[in-house]
Amino acid sequence: MAIRHFTDIWKLQAEDLRGILDQAHQMKAARAGWPRGRPDAGAALSGHSLAMLFEKNSTRTRFSFDMAMRQLGGETLIAAASEMQLGRGESVEDTARVLSRYVDAVMIRANRHEDIETFAEVATIPVINGLSDRSHPCQIMADLLTLEEHGVTLKGARLAWVGDGNNVCASFMHAAAPFGFSLAVGTPTDYQPADWDVDIITHQGGQIEQFSSAEAAVDGADVVIADTFISMGDADASQRLADLGPFRVDEALMAKAAPGAKFLHCLPAHRGEEVSAEVIDGPRSLVFDEAENRLHAQKAVLRWCLGL
Ligand code: CP
Ligand code: NVA
Repeated sequence: MAIRHFTDIWKLQAEDLRGILDQAHQMKAARAGWPRGRPDAGAALSGHSLAMLFEKNSTRTRFSFDMAMRQLGGETLIAAASEMQLGRGESVEDTARVLSRYVDAVMIRANRHEDIETFAEVATIPVINGLSDRSHPCQIMADLLTLEEHGVTLKGARLAWVGDGNNVCASFMHAAAPFGFSLAVGTPTDYQPADWDVDIITHQGGQIEQFSSAEAAVDGADVVIADTFISMGDADASQRLADLGPFRVDEALMAKAAPGAKFLHCLPAHRGEEVSAEVIDGPRSLVFDEAENRLHAQKAVLRWCLGL
């Protein structure tokens, strides 16, 4: 079997992605009400180890992957890249060759997407993208799981992304074709998604529309999505806040979406910047279900990667 990397959603087949979400729903239901540290019946990844490398901060990704492996009966090894020889110049390639001799899979949160791709090219074990400057595929699997739990049928749904056309936006774009939803992206002109990501979605037959106002993007949307205006690694904070301010999601903007529209945000959030407290802490917000579902979705991603 070819090594199954999970570095970007657009690289997987639609049926594999669907299978991952189905398995996540099943596994979550099967352990409802259990203590969180109790392994799943069958402990599918018993005897398996996941290494996690972090070049950037993390709360959700770190704890959800750690608990995912525990519930699957496996183990984790976690390191900040700055504490490794990687942090003093050892090559990505040699790091990949070495870790491939110790563990069964690697999750990487990287500054440069290219480094995850290089790692995956050299590694002899599956590599999972735990966020890069270009994409955040695990987040979007959790988000889609959450929408389905809340009664949204993805095929034909209208999703609206508002704010910075960033890494999280890119992974939503990558999921549009395989899951059959349309994506309206509202950004200032200088914050539009990369042409590369637009080309992928278009090539795969996904529906995307780009707008230069938040109001136009959310018009009639079933789901409104926001993310921080200042991602990890962004330098121009005050400029970004000024440019992106008109794209804040508040009650007035939500009123332009479809009745009953849901609100998503991957967290961490900055109330009063990209979203009002009223919206993120209000009844349409699914943000803490999203955070929980990182755990359930990633368990299914790990099983898919390892073919178990
Ligand atoms: N949403 C997300 O990836 O959160 P962390 O940065 O805390 O991992
Ligand atoms: N776009 C954000 C997501 C954090 C989970 C960032 O890259 O910092």
